[in-house]
Amino acid sequence: MLSHRLKKTFTRPTRDVAHQIRRFATKPEAIKLDLSPCVRGILTDVQDPDTPIDISGWVSSSRISKNVAFLDIKDGTTYEGIQCVIRPPSLLPSDIKNGTGVQVKGIWSEGKGKQKYEVHVNGTNQGNVDVLGPVDELFPMIKSSHSAQYLRTIPEYRWRDQSLAAILRFRSQVETTLVNFFDSQMFIKTHPPLVTASDCEGAGELFKIESSSKLKNDEQFFGKDAYLTVSTQLHLEVICAALSRVWTLTPCFRAEESDTNRHLSEFWMLEAEIAFVDHVSQLTKFSEKMIKSVVKNLADDHNGMGSNLINTVDKATAQIMIDRWEMLLSKDWDSITYTEAIKIIQDAVDSKLVEFDTRPIWGDSLKSEHEKWLAGKYFKNPVFVTDYPLEEKAFYMKINEKIAEEAGTTVACFDLLVPDIGELIGGSMREHDLQKLKNEIERRGMDTTPLNWYLKLRENGSVPHGGFGMGFERLLQYLSCTENIRDVIPFPRSARNCLC
Ligand code: 4AD
Ligand code: MG
Repeated sequence: MLSHRLKKTFTRPTRDVAHQIRRFATKPEAIKLDLSPCVRGILTDVQDPDTPIDISGWVSSSRISKNVAFLDIKDGTTYEGIQCVIRPPSLLPSDIKNGTGVQVKGIWSEGKGKQKYEVHVNGTNQGNVDVLGPVDELFPMIKSSHSAQYLRTIPEYRWRDQSLAAILRFRSQVETTLVNFFDSQMFIKTHPPLVTASDCEGAGELFKIESSSKLKNDEQFFGKDAYLTVSTQLHLEVICAALSRVWTLTPCFRAEESDTNRHLSEFWMLEAEIAFVDHVSQLTKFSEKMIKSVVKNLADDHNGMGSNLINTVDKATAQIMIDRWEMLLSKDWDSITYTEAIKIIQDAVDSKLVEFDTRPIWGDSLKSEHEKWLAGKYFKNPVFVTDYPLEEKAFYMKINEKIAEEAGTTVACFDLLVPDIGELIGGSMREHDLQKLKNEIERRGMDTTPLNWYLKLRENGSVPHGGFGMGFERLLQYLSCTENIRDVIPFPRSARNCLC
């Protein structure tokens, strides 16, 4: 009945509604509903010469001579700018500096120099320049180049730096590529919680959370201890047990004090969980395909993804990037077991091929220096290391049948190591047998209570499954050859560093 009434209203508007619509449409001062054109849009959808055009952005450079002034306008939607040619230069407001927010009205014209097109501003009917947001003399971004360290001290302005802005555009494009990749593989993007009652990795790196009003008394907001998640895996497994192929990209939080160029306290992790897989190699192959889908878009310059990065760095860095992308696509990535990795490292140390702070023996964790050497120098490409010792890894990993050559028990897991960064992905098969999982939790002396819900998952319809987590910033850092992880996330957080 209701839907019938609605249909009637919309197909045949009452006289009242029709009158309202007419009144609005013909009102001369009707609000402008379209967005004003952005630089990327103007350069993609090129107008015919002699069309009036309206550009809003920030001045990235200016040059004034006796007869003419040039303004380069950028708005951050692309690395490219639009040159405005102003004649006579007296049309230029006096307070123009780099970083000034402006609106330029002029005529779209064929360019005379390097630019294919430019905007001519020639006076009253032929355009003008309006200042929307002036900058003062002390504005640090008037200078065009600053060190990355200095820029980190001015978080409110640093993304106005052209190379850094390119990183944020890149970040957005990588996410879009991954959304499309997972969609093409029939995965469901899902949204696990960031507030959790369990320590997924069991490494004790949790941030505890409490409402500030409850801190004064002994009450707890959630009625129990609650934390910011270190990994959404456990919740993702719940959803995987219903939807088979799921993924997510969320912030994760770790109270690690390590002050390195690849650690953050708040970082984004891409996690995928897949039902009905039996072997770690299915996970490694899949994750290789996932990363290559991003690299392929870069190498093909899909949507200007590659040129966005290349055109905002110096020539030498651009070449390093291009070589890296080509190398990543050039062949299938190697995969070795942890036991083989230890042997390779020991042999290299013993034959004085390389020196490390520590010479690892079976059972030790691989240190960052070992990981970077294996990928960067030995394989010169990403390499999967599988089947680590049980004691090195988290409780949920599936235990392998023991192989004679191994000095101890291993689990069905993998790390993806990449040159310069080290670990980019950690993943594993999950123990889906209730009793075996219980035994392992007890053996480790862990409290089972916070994990009861997770164990219950194994009571009904529990099937073989596995998954992985990839540090999103580490991927961006690696592909864009950025030295410090703090420069690929808008507002980096690490110990004693939460500037705004
Ligand atoms: O190896 P991790 O600890 O694996 C997990 O948390 C699993 N539960 C994931 C899963 O199977 N769903 O973390 C995964 C990745 C690391 O390989 C690394 O790239 C990144 O997360 N990572 C960090 N990135 C930046 N800063 C930190 N502090 C990071 N800690 C881990
Ligand atoms: Mg790991």
